[in-house]
Amino acid sequence: MKTRATVHRDFTIAGIDDRLYSAFIEHMGRAIYSGIYEPGHPTANAQGFRKDVLELVRGLSIPAIRYPGGNFVSAYKWEDGIGPQKDRPVRLDLAWRSRESNQVGINEFAGWAKDAGIEMMLALNLGTRGIEDARNFVEYCNHPSGTYWSDLRRSHGVEQPYGVNMWCLGNEMDGPWQIGHKDAVEYGRLANETAKAVKAFGAGIETIVCGSSNDQMPTYPEWERQVLEECYENVEYISLHKYFGNNSHNSLNFFAKIEETGRYIQSIAGVIDYVKAKKRAKNDVYICFDEWNVWYHNREQDSRNWREWDWPEAPPLLEEDYNLEDALFVGGLLNEFIRRSDRVKIACIAQLVNVIAPIRAERGGKAWATSIYYPYQFASLYGRGTALNVAVDGPRYDAEAAQDVNYLDIAAVLAPDGASLTVFAVNRSPDEAMELDLALGGFGNARLIEHQVIGGDGTGPRVANTAQEPDRIRPRKGTGMGVADGGLRGELPAFSYHLLRLALN
Ligand code: AHR
Repeated sequence: MKTRATVHRDFTIAGIDDRLYSAFIEHMGRAIYSGIYEPGHPTANAQGFRKDVLELVRGLSIPAIRYPGGNFVSAYKWEDGIGPQKDRPVRLDLAWRSRESNQVGINEFAGWAKDAGIEMMLALNLGTRGIEDARNFVEYCNHPSGTYWSDLRRSHGVEQPYGVNMWCLGNEMDGPWQIGHKDAVEYGRLANETAKAVKAFGAGIETIVCGSSNDQMPTYPEWERQVLEECYENVEYISLHKYFGNNSHNSLNFFAKIEETGRYIQSIAGVIDYVKAKKRAKNDVYICFDEWNVWYHNREQDSRNWREWDWPEAPPLLEEDYNLEDALFVGGLLNEFIRRSDRVKIACIAQLVNVIAPIRAERGGKAWATSIYYPYQFASLYGRGTALNVAVDGPRYDAEAAQDVNYLDIAAVLAPDGASLTVFAVNRSPDEAMELDLALGGFGNARLIEHQVIGGDGTGPRVANTAQEPDRIRPRKGTGMGVADGGLRGELPAFSYHLLRLALN
């Protein structure tokens, strides 16, 4: 099949916020304990953090990380995780029916994040707690000295404040499963008052209010309208979540869920605009898509298990062996975030290690990259700069999730220095190669300097990276694409993801 597309230097969508490539990690399953933190592991550093996992994390160049939850945060007492580790209380985590040792708290996590070169984005408990505890936590983290909470932090060996600027006002508060779930007005008012308290700590603080847990919630999108009407002027972002399944093993329908996500973003952008107009507000609110990923491989088994188990500590939970199809999906979803980067400023892959994650780690054993690690890595490394509009004219298909879907999924990013253009492309067709003719306008001379491909070599869609075979899905050097006569042309094999980098002058 043939697809013609056009990209022009002047057809810009928006400057991409680097935080579009952020991540999320929760006290859940083996994400923290035996994921990033495992004293006694052969690679553990003096603080007990795994260096093998840290290396994989560093390879992703993650700008920001949301912590400590998730559902976990809605019954979490952050004070349980400070002070001498031996004195910390063991608690029951009501969200995942697990035992929380509190050996990792804010100071340990902050040390790890610093080592990893990642900025923290902290979530506040607005389930069982409220404004008072939120302001204490911010004071502990951000105030220099001379007050109860700041001096307590200093007595714990952290002289300098962390200066955390991103604060999430609870988690998935629309969900009846959430401990401390509230209705939209109740939550919107609490979020507004908490945001005011958090912002009192200084300029530069940004707050993120909870939008819908997904676009299938019965309260969506009325939830967003009601919540924003209560707090619009005091928030910078509204958070959205969405997880993706493919139980019917229908690749094309799976990929069509990316278009569905585009509509989700579009609808919430409309709600934001409506509330802004209604309130005659001056400020803008953007979208923070702070939980997204494929999540279905073990879902049924996992949801049965954890409801029955007897409060284990760091049990395996949601440990997905991601496959080739998932890698293509994740590459495509990141493309959608780039295409919507005028409205989506922050997005967090959920999660980072072991729990629905690009990185897996065996307790006491090895760590490896799952298939989705690579498209996420490429987007994070090369998807920074200005998003360009790509007009696509090619074959399309209809699916249950969306109609009129292009077989080609493409996004283009001009580097901040204007010296290179990166194209991310997926041929979604399970069985047909695509001849791509991408016309390049306004770029001067362009030279293909890098081409990496995932899939497209007959590897089956369900082939995954596992503990036994951690390298089955890996990028390899691509062939068959080149620049000629002002265009990037060549063949994208069936079921393949491509990173194409062009030098410009
Ligand atoms: O990421 C796993 C869980 O999914 C999070 O705890 C929650 O916010 C969402 O429902």
